[in-house]
Amino acid sequence: MVDISFEGCPPIYSGRVDSFKRFVAEIMRKVNPSVVEIGIFRKEVTDPGIAGDGGSSPILAWAVNKVSGTLDCCDINEVSVANCKKALEYYGQFTSNVHVHLMDGKEFVENYPNPIDVIYIDGLDFSPNKREDSMKWHLAVFKAAEPKLVPGAVIMFDDIFDTETWFGKGGMAIPYMLDSGKYEVLYKGYQVILKKRIPGNIS
Ligand SMILES: C[S@@+](CC[C@H](N)C(=O)[O-])C[C@H]1O[C@@H](n2cnc3c(N)ncnc32)[C@H](O)[C@@H]1O
Repeated sequence: MVDISFEGCPPIYSGRVDSFKRFVAEIMRKVNPSVVEIGIFRKEVTDPGIAGDGGSSPILAWAVNKVSGTLDCCDINEVSVANCKKALEYYGQFTSNVHVHLMDGKEFVENYPNPIDVIYIDGLDFSPNKREDSMKWHLAVFKAAEPKLVPGAVIMFDDIFDTETWFGKGGMAIPYMLDSGKYEVLYKGYQVILKKRIPGNIS
């Protein structure tokens, strides 16, 4: 149950409404959170394909702007970066707290200078001929981020087709996280949200 007003929030499309609302609520619960997004809003604002992608960047920007956090959006593709900037402008969310970077996501996370409160990893597409690559890539980006995750950090993956096996982009990262015992699942569905346990907290 998410008890915040989403008035003024950029569109959250069907299939991801509950998960994005939960993710946004987790961001807004934190004090000046550092939010990182790998794999960003990549199409023209008017492209109907955005609904299938998720349209995440303006939604996350809206959340950080509400709570004076920061959002660092990173993508390897120049077109994605240009379209993301346009979308952030379009929705009035391209503030000084929001930055868009053209870089490989793993490299970006490795060089990110601050502790990370929240990270959305939604990069290399889970195409039929690239499933293994996509799972490995999401695991590698997660591992790069892991040393920087604060206790209580929140992590989200997209395109999860089976919430028993985690088949989808998180197919390797989520089992790795759960096997470590350091993370718990907050939400499972097409998007899966996990939280880094806080030592000493019993949940
Ligand atoms: C599914 S889209 C992201 C959708 C976005 N999160 C949304 O909700 O609208 C995947 C993005 O990942 C980017 N990507 C692929 N490989 C990457 C890499 N190595 N580093 C950073 N971004 C990458 C692609 O360029 C593409 O823009």
